Amino acid sequence: MLYRPLGRTGLIVSELGFGCASWWGKPAFDERQAMGLVHAALDMGFTFFDTGASYSAGEAEPRLGRALKGRDVSGLVIATKAGTYHAGGGRIARDFSPAAVTASAERSLANLGLDRIDLLQLHGPAVAELTDELRQALADLKRRGLVRALGVNSFDPAVIDHVVGLPDFDVVMVDYNVLRPEREPLIARAAAAGKGVLAGMALAMGHTRPLLSRLRGPQDLWYAARAVVRHRDELRRGARFRFLHAQEDVTGAQAALAHVLANPDVSCAVFGATRLKHLAENAHASGLALRPELAARILAAQGRA
Ligand SMILES: NC(=O)c1ccc[n+]([C@@H]2O[C@H](COP(=O)([O-])OP(=O)(O)OC[C@H]3O[C@@H](n4cnc5c(N)ncnc54)[C@H](OP(=O)(O)O)[C@@H]3O)[C@@H](O)[C@H]2O)c1
Repeated sequence: MLYRPLGRTGLIVSELGFGCASWWGKPAFDERQAMGLVHAALDMGFTFFDTGASYSAGEAEPRLGRALKGRDVSGLVIATKAGTYHAGGGRIARDFSPAAVTASAERSLANLGLDRIDLLQLHGPAVAELTDELRQALADLKRRGLVRALGVNSFDPAVIDHVVGLPDFDVVMVDYNVLRPEREPLIARAAAAGKGVLAGMALAMGHTRPLLSRLRGPQDLWYAARAVVRHRDELRRGARFRFLHAQEDVTGAQAALAHVLANPDVSCAVFGATRLKHLAENAHASGLALRPELAARILAAQGRA
């Protein structure tokens, strides 16, 4: 596993991060398997783990806390999010008030069993929600030693652009993968401003493969349903990248991750996985240089050759 600096935070992270979200955190997914994936990731050298207060209906964060219990967390960077919460019945609600974000961070510490959150990210705020009062509350969390670095996770380029100009935030998490080359100028601006850049959804949620070919277990049905409801654009764009899965020397997932990591402005490519074989396969993407012809074919499929 190779490691990269996380912007100017002074933190070093594995260039591949494990996302503790979605199906991974749900009670329907066996706890021992979920914890086994985290332990295997630790053995493979992953040091960056990403979760959120609202992920998996609020179940992902405490599950990650149980997985980390008794482990040496001193070299790890554990990231979580605030500003959204599970409001019951599968509904995610938003509250970016200073009191709610502070209380969320304090609950996250208890859920994760940590003394300090390495990276606290606001989860999808609007520009208008980034008030002076909220920024003061975040600065207070840092001053109290409860949070080391601050970030914003947003898939709205206008929000990230705004955050790039705010000195309070150290890190941004954007949706960057083979389907989203248009994020590159934004990523370059963020890195030039000294922000650490995290690529969330680094595998494009698997949408480079046809949906029907992926339906093997309950997690696949869950991802498929989410895609049909929320990510039709990714499904459509993914059709141009089927060739990734027909290479002899790399798997489609490895090629997709290597493409993201070829961008030197990215600190870490974060992916989710519920199958150990996927995790192990993906770990080999660290340090992998794509063949020039394959790299060129990706650019061509993105309409950039
Ligand atoms: N999606 C979002 O809206 C979002 C928002 C903010 C932050 N994030 C962060 O980004 C992380 C990743 O997002 P994500 O989980 O939604 O999407 P993702 O990592 O792009 O894709 C996950 C999907 O890829 C599959 N996969 C993983 N490795 C594979 C392999 N080697 N071969 C084939 N399929 C493979 C997984 O299957 P298996 O489960 O079968 O392994 C799962 O279906 C999250 O955990 C979170 O930390 C995501």
